[in-house]
Amino acid sequence: MKSTALLILPTLASSLVAAAPAPGAPLVESNKLRRVLYRSNLEARATELFNIAKLNKGTRAWGTPGHWETLDWIERQIPKDYYNVERQYFNISRTVHDEVSVTVDGVAQTQVNGFTGGPNGTVSAPLIAIPNFGCNASDYPASVAGKIALVHRGSCNFGQKNARAGTAGAAGLVIWNNDPTPLTPTLGTPDLYNVTEFIVALFIGQAEGSAIVEKIGTGSVPATIKSLFHFDIDLTANIIATTKGGNQNAIITSGAHTDSVPAGPGINDNGSGTIAQIEVAKALTKFSVNNAIRFCWWAAEEDGLLGSEYYTSHISAAEAAKIVMNLNFDMLASPNYLYSIYDGDGSTFASPYASTGSGLIEQTFIDFFVEDGKTSVPTEFDGRSDYDGFLQVGIPAGGVFMGAEGIKTEEEQKLFGGTAGKPYDHCYHQACDDTNNLDYGAFITGTKSMADAIAKYGRSIEGFPFPRPAAKLTPRRLEGEPMIPNRAKGKHGKHGGCSQRQEA
Ligand SMILES: *[C@@H]1O[C@H](CO)[C@@H](O)[C@H](O)[C@H]1NC(C)=O
Ligand SMILES: *[C@@H]1O[C@H](CO)[C@@H](O)[C@H](O)[C@H]1NC(C)=O
Ligand SMILES: *[C@@H]1O[C@H](CO)[C@@H](O)[C@H](O)[C@H]1NC(C)=O
Ligand SMILES: *[C@@H]1O[C@H](CO)[C@@H](O)[C@H](O)[C@H]1NC(C)=O
Ligand SMILES: *[C@@H]1O[C@H](CO)[C@@H](O)[C@H](O)[C@H]1NC(C)=O
Ligand SMILES: [Zn+2]
Repeated sequence: MKSTALLILPTLASSLVAAAPAPGAPLVESNKLRRVLYRSNLEARATELFNIAKLNKGTRAWGTPGHWETLDWIERQIPKDYYNVERQYFNISRTVHDEVSVTVDGVAQTQVNGFTGGPNGTVSAPLIAIPNFGCNASDYPASVAGKIALVHRGSCNFGQKNARAGTAGAAGLVIWNNDPTPLTPTLGTPDLYNVTEFIVALFIGQAEGSAIVEKIGTGSVPATIKSLFHFDIDLTANIIATTKGGNQNAIITSGAHTDSVPAGPGINDNGSGTIAQIEVAKALTKFSVNNAIRFCWWAAEEDGLLGSEYYTSHISAAEAAKIVMNLNFDMLASPNYLYSIYDGDGSTFASPYASTGSGLIEQTFIDFFVEDGKTSVPTEFDGRSDYDGFLQVGIPAGGVFMGAEGIKTEEEQKLFGGTAGKPYDHCYHQACDDTNNLDYGAFITGTKSMADAIAKYGRSIEGFPFPRPAAKLTPRRLEGEPMIPNRAKGKHGKHGGCSQRQEA
């Protein structure tokens, strides 16, 4: 990654031209804004979004027609007299495998997948099976040097196994599945695992892997592994809508992601955040604001927060200095939900990202749930979501999340109802994440929590640490440099979340 100072974002320059809100519009107030949000609208939007997925092979993943239609659909609904609406295009470099193969003792394995990340190449060497999960240096015998290591999936990330095998001197790596369900695996980036590069790696099925382990025991067999690929550059876009009214030097940003995973329509994940933002943005037009509000619909969250990271890595220091905070809205309608709030002050989960500003945002959400007669719990503030890029440039953040594939505890069942021992969202990242997968009561509550924070901070940021000392803007990306998918980035802590399954 190259470092460039002070890139100016020309597409956002026009949002600096202030325009008056509707004449006579009252100053926004939380209660009044919340009162003009309707559950029936959320239901209607969810149906429209699901129809877009249905008409497009069941998915709204970035780069697909379903995602482009999602962007058009969002843009059509944002009132242009109240907002400056921009499309921020960016490229993503996608790995396309041309040949993947694992041949063991002359037998070509049939269930082979290539990794995203890692080198392009062919390795022929004896293959040995590594005991345990290959997560630690001590798992690798000295004799692995120059050989291909066969490692079981589980216990740590694929990237960690690759780094430890490489550090032990292995020439190549085959990871075998611990689950019969196939997956598209991702290594992440070597720097996350303290190495400068990965070794050539392939992923094989559970049945094949266990058969090889049984056959070779502590011995070895000749093997050849191939991972040959090229990169395709594909375009996608974020949508950024900023109120024309309000102080353009004190901007409250709010984000949700517009893409689904390829496997499903993504109506809870993350259609719900997208829809909530549309409805709050429309309702806001009945009011005036003292501070500008910028709604961001990010693309390619599912591949590693790429849209939000593109935005924050191309923002100039001057533009970053105008952003007061980033509000982030995760799955807002999980069927077996919990109301969790990022622990911005680090009081429950120690976090290097905790700050006074993020703590104040957390308190705003806690207060909202209390006022609404509900309870909430803290969740890790670990930078593993679209707010990460904002924290990297020194902007405080916070938000609400209702749970993904994590399992509801007994204690959470007492607080929120639903079913203990079951996932918060049993359709997480699957084809069944459709309009029937939403808890609409939770959905309207989540949407109102967004409206409350927008109204509060749109009115006043008194007591909030702003302006801030000048931000450090590293690392930076070059204009036009494509973003690289990295699924290891987009995952949540104990309540589960995007990408966890692909990377470990
Ligand atoms: C090996 O690595 C795993 C995952 O990182 C860790 O949980 C475990 O404690 C390690 N074991 C040893 C013996 O170091
Ligand atoms: C990388 O190295 C640092 C410093 O030695 C260590 O704290 C960290 O745990 C290492 N990370 C991994 C993934 O091995
Ligand atoms: C990978 O290697 C193959 C064969 O050597 C080559 O054709 C291809 O261009 C390489 N891909 C990349 C991304 O370098
Ligand atoms: C939902 O969208 C938010 C905002 O873009 C993002 O931070 C979060 O990771 C997404 N969550 C899931 C589970 O997709
Ligand atoms: C995307 O990549 C194409 C082809 O490589 C290039 O022409 C275009 O300018 C890039 N667009 C952006 C927004 O970076
Ligand atoms: Zn997801």
